[in-house]
Amino acid sequence: MKRLSYLLPLLAMACGEPAPSEQAIEATPAAPREVNVYTHRHYDTDKALFAAFTEKTGIAVKVIEADDDEVLERMAQEGANSPCDVLITADAGRLGLAKARGFLQPVTSDVLSANIPANLRDPEGNWFGLTMRARVIAYDKTKVKPEELKNYADLTNSKWKGKVLVRSSENVYNQSLLAAMIAHDGPEAAKAWAKGIVRNMAREPKGGDTDQLLAIGEGLGTVTIANSYYIGKLMASEEPEKQKAKAVIGVVFPAMGAHGTHVNISGGGVAKHARHIPEAIALLEFLSSDEVQRSFAEGNKEYPVKAGIPASAELAAFGSFQRDTLNLEALGRLNADAVKLFDEAGWH
Ligand SMILES: [Fe+2]
Repeated sequence: MKRLSYLLPLLAMACGEPAPSEQAIEATPAAPREVNVYTHRHYDTDKALFAAFTEKTGIAVKVIEADDDEVLERMAQEGANSPCDVLITADAGRLGLAKARGFLQPVTSDVLSANIPANLRDPEGNWFGLTMRARVIAYDKTKVKPEELKNYADLTNSKWKGKVLVRSSENVYNQSLLAAMIAHDGPEAAKAWAKGIVRNMAREPKGGDTDQLLAIGEGLGTVTIANSYYIGKLMASEEPEKQKAKAVIGVVFPAMGAHGTHVNISGGGVAKHARHIPEAIALLEFLSSDEVQRSFAEGNKEYPVKAGIPASAELAAFGSFQRDTLNLEALGRLNADAVKLFDEAGWH
């Protein structure tokens, strides 16, 4: 039983219910009203959300920002002394690794179970998806017909030789994409796909997803794989250096064999050595609430995980799509296999 009854008024507030009376607040024991968050997400929108959480609940949020991998190393070094209550990071693969390394603990929450689809959270409650992204194919509309790219496997067709732009396999997004292929089609098929991409590469993998999109704008290749929010942000951008890419990029939601488009999450979990567990759960619940889901959708061009919340106009313009329903727990479990297959395939 992780939730303490004295926190119920706070949880009720976080869920938009009527505020508790002054008396109810005074009656709460003198528990520390704070929650320490380790996050790689350094968006202004997130800061505003944490402030809104404090406003609603009186729970102070202390944020420690760190690079994705740094954050896990920090937790490893701190061990049982870690002040972290909530870990927020991108990619179910990374959250799965955090769980495997013993940095998280299972919690139960009816609110989180109701708000977040089962395949977007750890079956054991160690982490919860808070925003969703699709890993899509972006293409040059002036050179490619979207009918040519219905499946991730289509990118291995020899007609794309010298035209596929991709980032390094060291990045967890590609590792998770390949882990999903391993889960569905087995390691041999996944390795054959990775080899096929290597054969078609326009250049050595470098840069992030946005760099690949900009490279399409420069004519350095015609197709790439990118997370949907990078394309959403590109489409919303007024920056002069982004306009060439913005003008030519189209999006397809590829199938993965018989399955839908690979989706992934940015999410959070309660830290193994958390000292503020009820507050940590309350924060995660708040982040899954309607108002925050709406804010995630607009602010960072991510898909809400909660059903019924619309995507941003930029994402809605790409159309709807069939999602792969794979439980994302597989991405952490198969991460090491994916890394090994990339290495064998020569995708560095
Ligand atoms: Fe990202």
